[in-house]
Amino acid sequence: MKPPVIWGTILVLLLLGGGNWGLSSLLKDSEAPVMIAPELVADYVHSVIQANRIVYTKNIVDKLQESGIVAAGEHWKGENALPLPAQFLIETGRLVADSGKGIKYKLVSLWPIYVWNKPETEFERKGLEAVAKSPDQPFTGFVRIGRERYFQAIYADVAVSQTCVTCHNQHINSSRRDFKLNDVMGGIVITIPVTP
Ligand code: HEC
Repeated sequence: MKPPVIWGTILVLLLLGGGNWGLSSLLKDSEAPVMIAPELVADYVHSVIQANRIVYTKNIVDKLQESGIVAAGEHWKGENALPLPAQFLIETGRLVADSGKGIKYKLVSLWPIYVWNKPETEFERKGLEAVAKSPDQPFTGFVRIGRERYFQAIYADVAVSQTCVTCHNQHINSSRRDFKLNDVMGGIVITIPVTP
């Protein structure tokens, strides 16, 4: 009867030891500082913004418009209209900025319909020029705003449908009227606070 008892004890010890080892390595993992590259954080934020915009456009605006319930209109605040998808992005960006967490995003262009959507800094202007040439790659870098340091990423905003082109080319305030399908029309600027 002895061997089974010994093997049993060894097994229990191994299990306990193994369990302890597992627990301590788990603790070590959770205590280790996690560093995430700001490029990756900006990519995460950008994918959420884009997903929300697409779902808002396709599943809300297009559907309500097609069924004749309510259309999207630029002057939605004073009319019975839904915000345009660009305005949806701009409005949510305002709320995010107001949250005081330091993170911001906005929609800008070198050829804006409204002057308030033009680049505010040299970095933003350079970024918009860069993504107009290479839309697949965001333009990124560190900037100072006041005394704080931030990471900024600018992603191309592309005319994915003819409606983008038609509306922008025909808008009374538009500063450019020769947009074509798949042209870069502007960019999404994402600003993330980073510790100094
Ligand atoms: C029905 C008209 C309309 C359509 C369709 C439309 N936009 Fe716009 N877009 C606007 C208006 C109006 C603004 C300005 C919103 C504001 O600042 O309140 C704007 C703003 C923008 C801006 C910020 C710079 C600027 O022009 O002021 C970008 C970039 C932009 N739109 C890209 C697009 C893209 C890409 C699409 C298609 C996926 C699109 N828009 C579809 C009307 C439209």
